[in-house]
Amino acid sequence: MSRQPLRPALLEATAQLAAAGVHSPRNDAEEIAAHLLDCERTRLGLVPLIEPTVLEAYRKMIDQRAKRIPLQYITGTAPMGEIDLEVGPGVFVPRPETELLLCWALGFLESGCQHPPVVLDLCTGSGALALAIAHARPDAVVHAVELDKRALTWARRNADLREADGDTPVTIYEGDVTDPSLLPELDGKVDVIVANPPYIPAGVALEPEVAEHDPAMALFAGPEGLDVITPMIANVSRWLRVGGGIAIEHDDSNGAKVAELLGGAGEFAAIAEHPDLAGKPRFVVAVREPARATVRG
Ligand SMILES: C[S@@+](CC[C@H](N)C(=O)[O-])C[C@H]1O[C@@H](n2cnc3c(N)ncnc32)[C@H](O)[C@@H]1O
Repeated sequence: MSRQPLRPALLEATAQLAAAGVHSPRNDAEEIAAHLLDCERTRLGLVPLIEPTVLEAYRKMIDQRAKRIPLQYITGTAPMGEIDLEVGPGVFVPRPETELLLCWALGFLESGCQHPPVVLDLCTGSGALALAIAHARPDAVVHAVELDKRALTWARRNADLREADGDTPVTIYEGDVTDPSLLPELDGKVDVIVANPPYIPAGVALEPEVAEHDPAMALFAGPEGLDVITPMIANVSRWLRVGGGIAIEHDDSNGAKVAELLGGAGEFAAIAEHPDLAGKPRFVVAVREPARATVRG
């Protein structure tokens, strides 16, 4: 069989993905082709003919995507900041909305943290936030915590790859971010904490890519979506140095509630709610202030 033109294959794939209910069929058809051909998506027009074996492989990958397997599990990578993470079954796929939380944390570090700054990523999953910060700030001492053993395997693999590429190593711990005895050695020492914990209220209907592939432990957190965030905040108070910052991602129904939880802890100032790229409430930030003295009556 002779070499085939790429364009009809792209059009056919886009139509197949659209019929399967994929939200961005053209984007995904092109991303998969670019991955397979190892070229920039914007340069696909310069690849007029492809080998029959490549076309066959392409169609197999499109069939997978049509079964609503996440695009990132098929290409094997997802971006965060300036880096790409390896992802696959067993780990949460980092999302574009978390990029804004990352930007906030990097800006906070830039605007007046001690050097070298100490950073803690709670619920690290693939290692996305921890490794993106370590890449952007080679002077930072970055720690990351994850409970799920399968996710930890991905985080450690990504950490090894980033280190081999020259990034500053990060320290990854297996642990529960709600455990009051977790990491006492970091008490009062952390400059910035980033947290993208599970936060979806139980029972919320999700797209097949999420419901059938992201680990349930990465998604759901009790009836209101606050079962991890609420107990985690007491630990955040403990770990942050005075003047240190926290950013917590949350369900779009919970912006005011997370701000209220931080306010209720009595140890945070400059509490502010932030939207995501779609304008939905997505993360809350705050700064650790000195513990208030108890006034005796
Ligand atoms: C929404 S994912 C976020 C992953 C990563 N931070 C990101 O932005 O791509 C939440 C992660 O928290 C982990 N997790 C859930 N409960 C946890 C807990 N109590 N302690 C530590 N990690 C937890 C899950 O296994 C999952 O990897």
